[in-house]
Amino acid sequence: MQQKKWVAPASADKIVNPLKGDANAAASGKKLYKVMCFVCHGPKGKGDGMGGAGLTPKPTDLTSKVVQAQSDGAIFWKITEGRTPMASYKSSIPEKKRWEIINYIRTLK
Ligand code: HEC
Repeated sequence: MQQKKWVAPASADKIVNPLKGDANAAASGKKLYKVMCFVCHGPKGKGDGMGGAGLTPKPTDLTSKVVQAQSDGAIFWKITEGRTPMASYKSSIPEKKRWEIINYIRTLK
């Protein structure tokens, strides 16, 4: 069964990315993506990772318009909160590292 579309609260749009446009941060985020996200979201973020194949819903295509059209703050909020079957990364990935991953996700579009 498909879950309801995942929408971040409007307040999340106001969270400012302190690393916006920082390419070094994106490079560092790529490394972390490989360790933490690749298994489900796949090598290029297409949502085709091996670990995601049996999940419902499927891991989201992070290169898609649906994701890329969201604010950095909204994406940050989702990575922070998680939603089953994706974990919350609030305590396992420090805030700055979460922003680095977002900078990397922005290079995937
Ligand atoms: C266990 C597999 C798994 C892992 C690991 C995982 N995700 Fe996800 N992710 C999912 C699934 C499944 C969804 C869809 C959840 C939903 O729509 O309810 C999702 C959704 C998302 C979304 C929301 C897309 C949207 O707007 O609807 C983002 C952003 C995201 N993941 C980023 C990440 C990042 C960054 C990491 C690594 C830190 C990560 N994910 C690790 C499975 C995973």
